[in-house]
Amino acid sequence: MIDNLTAYWEDLWAGGRRYRQLTDSETAALGRHTGPGEGRSALDIGSGDGALARHLADRGFKTTGLDCAPSALALASTGPSSNVVTFCHGDIESPQPPPLPESAFAVVTARLVYAFVKDKPAFLSRVRGLLVPGGLFWVVTPMAACVPAGQVSNGITTAEEELLTSGWSAVRATDMDYLRCFALRP
Ligand SMILES: C[S@@+](CC[C@H](N)C(=O)[O-])C[C@H]1O[C@@H](n2cnc3c(N)ncnc32)[C@H](O)[C@@H]1O
Repeated sequence: MIDNLTAYWEDLWAGGRRYRQLTDSETAALGRHTGPGEGRSALDIGSGDGALARHLADRGFKTTGLDCAPSALALASTGPSSNVVTFCHGDIESPQPPPLPESAFAVVTARLVYAFVKDKPAFLSRVRGLLVPGGLFWVVTPMAACVPAGQVSNGITTAEEELLTSGWSAVRATDMDYLRCFALRP
């Protein structure tokens, strides 16, 4: 369990740690669920280097990236098209919701983040509150059963998957290597 969330992630980013790059397969799968942005709003939780947030902006979404690590936000802010994304500093799990430029979003994404969420029911409740009616919650996460030994904590268990996928009106899952992509609709 991570004690000091910001310090944990900040140390990793500042120390040069980087994460699995966004792939064309992932963005194609996401695009099949979102369609073009057409000015709708999107929020990427745990936006890291900003690649997914920038992709959403390129697809026409008015995009916000949220991350708790200043070094990740600094990196994201220097990437191509970063000027079209609003990057915000904050912890999605903080007792007070982090300040965001919009109160609700057509698309909320969380890539390689969900496994690290401490209080998953509270997180899911917060995400539901951030979605417009008919919105989409897109989660990309390693599955604990599929990741190499020693990296199991980076993935979610079957019980955590059941929690993630319960209570939505529509659930679609797509497997990509050891990642599972979930498209969840309220
Ligand atoms: C494994 S990295 C993934 C980054 C990016 N989503 C990607 O796919 O490359 C997890 C990211 O989530 C951020 N993060 C983790 N927990 C968070 C929280 N509670 N609130 C905001 N950001 C968080 C970390 O700072 C880190 O940048």
